[in-house]
Amino acid sequence: MLQTISLSKQYGSHQALAGLSVQIAPGEVFCMLGANGAGKTTSIKLMLGLLTPSAGQVLVHGVDVHRDPLAARRQMLYLPEQIALYGEMSGLENLDYFAGLAGVGDRRPSLLLEWLHEAGIPEDAAHRRAATYSKGMRQKVAIALAIARSARVLLLDEPTSGLDPQASAEFHALLLRQRDAGAAIYMATHDLFRAREVATTIGLMRGGHLVRTLKATDVSALELERLYLDEMRAPLM
Ligand SMILES: Nc1ncnc2c1ncn2[C@@H]1O[C@H](COP(=O)(O)OP(=O)(O)OP(=O)(O)O)[C@@H](O)[C@H]1O
Ligand SMILES: [Mg+2]
Repeated sequence: MLQTISLSKQYGSHQALAGLSVQIAPGEVFCMLGANGAGKTTSIKLMLGLLTPSAGQVLVHGVDVHRDPLAARRQMLYLPEQIALYGEMSGLENLDYFAGLAGVGDRRPSLLLEWLHEAGIPEDAAHRRAATYSKGMRQKVAIALAIARSARVLLLDEPTSGLDPQASAEFHALLLRQRDAGAAIYMATHDLFRAREVATTIGLMRGGHLVRTLKATDVSALELERLYLDEMRAPLM
């Protein structure tokens, strides 16, 4: 369970995030939509403990991220917009390295290959240098790491921006498998269509405020687009 309580971030006089309170249970996907600068990335970095909140709290399975960042982060996996792998190493070696850093003890090659396979990377590709990987494949290595670590909470920042529709569909299918395995997922995205498909709950953020939350099953893609445009145009209170 990932929970934020009145989470806020102030930069000088600028309120980047204003009192965000959300709860994401295991098996749920929360998709945060919002214009550029709305505060989505800020919310993710606060959840990870990479930024210190001006006010409020983040709890991961009851652990306060800012009191005990290491214990909290052990349960989390962060997928930034750009996933950096070591280009000279293979996908398999990258996974071995990052899983080792994360404290995964048993990293037999057969296990590493199994995790990569589960994430959609076949064995021949696993042995190729990561410099030859597409963005979609780099993300699959990150998902393999989530599988290796049994990460209970996934935080994703625009994971499918720049992916072609097929890679995007594959990625979301992978995400749904993680959800069904009990992960709690928080994702910032500009993709309204996919958000509606994969989310349990959709949030609309503007100017640091969560201005609306809705159940994904309550709206059609067209209705969601209309709501989004209305919210982004409405005067901010
Ligand atoms: N280090 C910083 N110092 C000052 N202001 C910042 C800093 N980081 C972010 N901001 C501001 O905080 C606000 C929220 O930024 P954030 O990156 O969270 O937006 P976002 O919703 O992720 O946008 P995008 O869709 O473009 O990724 C913006 O107005 C941004 O300019
Ligand atoms: Mg952002």
